[in-house]
Amino acid sequence: MHVLLIGAGGFLGRHLAAALIAAGHTVTGTGRRGTPPPGHAVQHWRRLELTAAGRAADWPALLDGVDAVVYAAGLLRERRRGEFDAIHGRAPIALAGAAAASAGIRRIVLISALGAGEAVDAGFLGSRVAAEKALLALTPGVGVVLRPSLVYGVDGRSTGWLRRLALLPLTPLPGDGRQPLQPLHVADLCAAVCRLLQPDAPVPPGGIIEAVGPAPLTLRAYLAALRHGLGLPAAPVLPVPVGLLRLAARWLAPWRTQPLCPETLTLLLRGNTGDPAALTALLDRPPRPVPAFAAGEHQSAERADSAAALAAGLARAALALIWAAGGLASLLPGGRSAGFALLAQLGVHGPLAWLLLLGGAGLDLAFALLTLHPAAGRRLWAAQAAIVALYGAIAAVGLPGLLADPLGAIVKNLALLALLGQLALHAEPD
Ligand SMILES: NC(=O)c1ccc[n+]([C@@H]2O[C@H](COP(=O)([O-])OP(=O)(O)OC[C@H]3O[C@@H](n4cnc5c(N)ncnc54)[C@H](OP(=O)(O)O)[C@@H]3O)[C@@H](O)[C@H]2O)c1
Repeated sequence: MHVLLIGAGGFLGRHLAAALIAAGHTVTGTGRRGTPPPGHAVQHWRRLELTAAGRAADWPALLDGVDAVVYAAGLLRERRRGEFDAIHGRAPIALAGAAAASAGIRRIVLISALGAGEAVDAGFLGSRVAAEKALLALTPGVGVVLRPSLVYGVDGRSTGWLRRLALLPLTPLPGDGRQPLQPLHVADLCAAVCRLLQPDAPVPPGGIIEAVGPAPLTLRAYLAALRHGLGLPAAPVLPVPVGLLRLAARWLAPWRTQPLCPETLTLLLRGNTGDPAALTALLDRPPRPVPAFAAGEHQSAERADSAAALAAGLARAALALIWAAGGLASLLPGGRSAGFALLAQLGVHGPLAWLLLLGGAGLDLAFALLTLHPAAGRRLWAAQAAIVALYGAIAAVGLPGLLADPLGAIVKNLALLALLGQLALHAEPD
């Protein structure tokens, strides 16, 4: 079959592309960029911006010569208002409209999300309801909706975050950590999609398949299994009050490199379980249970990767705090007088002193924000190292007494430089 895979560059999309090709299909992948991500396996690639694909007329050229479509695009957090509706709603509805007018499409598989059926609010889940209905209203058997629970894969973002939590010496949990989950291995999701492309695939009458693991377990038990899988002994838990987490989720939401935001917290707290019967029938075996996959395939390498990712996250948070504290302190009256006193010892007074103080504070605050930006990379770490070295050199030459400061006012910069060097060493090239 010729399969159009929408969202082929995402976590599920990458695995689906490999599985579909291994099953003998020809795959045309789509993504927002003009070329597939490096190392991607698809035979053909089309650039497709789904926020601009909300009319049935946007689809016929893409569907030409295609036998089946797998829609694996989506978002956990909106980057811009209206994106959930555009990507989970309008684009797949338009795809369904175009497919209805095309005789060649034999199957469309929509990767939705567990809980979309009960969702009442617009948002991550609610935005999917209308598209599910449009797909299922196609000629019987053409449209199928797969609703996955949390999907496990060593290269998956949620797996990465949960493994980093599992690595901590105390496992933080929302409340008592009894929120139920039913994680599914990504290979089982891919096997289900490949099976759905066969004409005799057992699809339940409603056309909806809950893609869940064989049995629910609590978040607490899942993190314990991931920790055990990383080869670590059980850790004590640290219950975090849900009210505090809600507050933190609101505050941390703009920092997109971390997972906590109101949407992810709501999904976690509402639980994520379903009935594995339809998936079991499709796979002709039960899906893999958590203990069968939580160990990963390369325990020590995966533990080292998780530890490096955790260390990099903590280092960035600490750096951002250091820059923010430095910038804000120079603006407050106490810090400002100390700053002017230092500049005076260096012979800088008047407007130039103001300029250096305000410019320095602005630069520190800008560095704090950039440090938290998802695209922070080698150039930023190099610029920060240059500024740390410059501040240190000016202070060491102008105020040599600070070199012997018992609190290490200047010498401590060496630790900062080492940290920046480490971040640069592990960063992708800009
Ligand atoms: N992973 C899970 O555990 C899980 C669980 C339940 C449901 N799901 C659902 O399954 C779907 C795929 O999840 P995933 O984990 O693979 O997500 P992902 O890694 O974030 O990938 C999302 C894909 O959607 C594409 N996309 C996003 N916005 C787009 C836009 N405006 N135009 C064109 N393409 C766009 C991305 O394209 P680019 O590559 O160009 O960025 C990417 O290929 C989502 O709907 C997700 O909610 C996932």
